[in-house]
Amino acid sequence: MVAVVLLHHLIKAGDTIALGCPIFTPYIEIPTLNDYELNVVNLDADVENNWQYSKAELDKLRDPKVKVFFLVNPSNPPSVKISDESLEYVTEIVKERPDLVLLTDDVYGTFADDFVSLFALAPKNTILVYSYSKYFGATGWRLGTIATHKDNLLDKLIAELPKDTKKILHKRYESIMTEPDKLKFIDRLVADSRTVALDHTAGPSAPQQVQMVLFSLFSLMETPDAYKNALKRLIRSASARCSRKSAWRSTRRTRTRSTTTRSSTWSISASAHMAASSSTGC
Ligand SMILES: Cc1ncc(COP(=O)(O)O)c(C=O)c1O
Repeated sequence: MVAVVLLHHLIKAGDTIALGCPIFTPYIEIPTLNDYELNVVNLDADVENNWQYSKAELDKLRDPKVKVFFLVNPSNPPSVKISDESLEYVTEIVKERPDLVLLTDDVYGTFADDFVSLFALAPKNTILVYSYSKYFGATGWRLGTIATHKDNLLDKLIAELPKDTKKILHKRYESIMTEPDKLKFIDRLVADSRTVALDHTAGPSAPQQVQMVLFSLFSLMETPDAYKNALKRLIRSASARCSRKSAWRSTRRTRTRSTTTRSSTWSISASAHMAASSSTGC
């Protein structure tokens, strides 16, 4: 995704992006590759506050140097959804910073109760990423979707690019349509998935598309959420078991260590959280 945003010259080497941390590792690894060379600002969730972001951390998004904010919600590894209050706060910041692009990776959203995506609150600024791999147990199948609002910031930013940059992009897409400048960001992603040249075969393969339709139809028709509720029960009972095991281990560690340091007592709650996270988050 970083590559795609870069390809459209919306961000360039040396620009700054923000990451909601802790975060799924590719979001940490990719921006610092020498292909991209981005500066990264971390917004750190607070373990003591159930992995939520403080207002002070979210305020880092007010810095106009930050071009894109990448968020995994619910988070991986902590497996905690961002609070409604924080989502509202980000939305308020976006009103002040209408140029801020948001990317929300909601692959775990289907496991959370009453989940609300940042995409629902700030649709024009947000790129939504979803994978079928978690909810449908289809890891490795590479089935996912990306969504943008019809009237979105990315298309606006593309339209406002300097003339020379537009020329480069015009040339890139001129083989697939007569007015390539009008090609929407989302359609550029599709074209880029087959390096533009094979646009007629771009995007997921036909079997992948059929499988995604079947999963989606199942999800729409499956009432009253029996599958979803069974999954939630399974995940949460596994998490609870891990939490208990981990708390037990930590208690033992704490007892051993407490002769040397008092600070190790924090580990009971933190590692219980981590165990819950790793059982649901990966
Ligand atoms: C937050 C997050 N996003 C994306 C993915 C990738 O999903 P896929 O299996 O579709 O590659 C994962 C997989 O672990 C993930 O945890």
